[in-house]
Amino acid sequence: MTDPTVSNRVAEIEPQQIRRLFDLAAAHDGDDVVHLEVGEPDFRTPDHVVEAAATAARDGETNYTANAGIAPLREAIADRLRGRDVAADADRVVVTTGGVEALYLTLLTVTDPGDEVVVPTPAWPNPLSQTELAGATPVEVALPADEGFAFDADRVVDAVTDRTGAVVLTSPSNPTGRVFDTDEMERVVEAAADHDAVVVADEVYHELVYEGSQPSLAAVTDHPERVVTVDSCSKTYAMTGWRVGWLSGPEAVTAAVTKIHESTTSCVNTPAQYAALAALTGPEAPVREMKAAFERRRDLFVERMGEIPGVSMARPEGAFYAFVDVSDLPGTSMDVAERLLYEYDVVAAPGSAFGDAGEGYLRFSFANDGARIETGLARFEEMVRAETT
Ligand SMILES: Cc1ncc(COP(=O)(O)O)c(C=O)c1O
Repeated sequence: MTDPTVSNRVAEIEPQQIRRLFDLAAAHDGDDVVHLEVGEPDFRTPDHVVEAAATAARDGETNYTANAGIAPLREAIADRLRGRDVAADADRVVVTTGGVEALYLTLLTVTDPGDEVVVPTPAWPNPLSQTELAGATPVEVALPADEGFAFDADRVVDAVTDRTGAVVLTSPSNPTGRVFDTDEMERVVEAAADHDAVVVADEVYHELVYEGSQPSLAAVTDHPERVVTVDSCSKTYAMTGWRVGWLSGPEAVTAAVTKIHESTTSCVNTPAQYAALAALTGPEAPVREMKAAFERRRDLFVERMGEIPGVSMARPEGAFYAFVDVSDLPGTSMDVAERLLYEYDVVAAPGSAFGDAGEGYLRFSFANDGARIETGLARFEEMVRAETT
């Protein structure tokens, strides 16, 4: 008997490095491991949201829905977008299984095999592997490390050509926590329009901005018809496991995505759609409290990292990540992450998981309480002092 053959398309997808580290951390039996690798809020989903899902299930809202999602949720999403000055319409909103499915279906829809998808890095790696699954070619554009990975339109625009199907812009950024300059991002939309490409604006962290605010790219560009906005309940409402996200954009894209949604998941879990509706239309106090907690932890990170000689990081302006330069420590970022795990019982993600530009960095997450962050950073400091002196 021979094993079934895995397609080349799938076989060629590299397992994500972040997953490798998570697996090592799960197998590591330290007594008191501090988890600073987690990419999701450490808060519970607000009670009124949980109640809405339970009520919907009890009331029999347990059938398939339309491929694009239930009408009141699409309306609530469009309302939210209009509140951010995007000319949105419920008919051009598709509810998806998390932002990740919105990204995948969009990339499948706007690229042909052989097209290129431009991704400024360091970046959350899923759009890179999704691009490969779509038969297109990811093009990583390294943002300037010496400027703390600030967004640099020139570099990105240079990579946009007639082969480009899409550019993925994620602000605030996972893993750097940088908020990209809006004018610079607009220049990328212009370049995309010139080359008949689409900009996918991944705005899943837009509520978690600590300095100023992050306008929606579709609201500020002269070419909103070129922008697909992706967002999700996951990070804003501590709802990662509910798997509700969405996209909004030009009708040609949303209609095509709706069509292929039938072939992937048909629709999002129905009670979860009612939960998302309650999240979007209910009290915002839980969001404000969570954001305030993340901001305090961000400040703690900045202060504590500033006291550790030999490492540095740009001040995170959004999301809940700190991207720390550990290039003075021996070995690759994976080596550093493994030593931190095995010798100091702290888990952080290796920067190389976020594209070649991330090598030499570790991503720490603030999704843990202040006392655990203090403990984790004290151990990290001990390691850095031991390895750099
Ligand atoms: C930048 C970015 N975009 C999108 C997502 C997708 O999140 P979800 O599918 O839970 O909405 C994530 C999750 O970590 C992310 O970091």
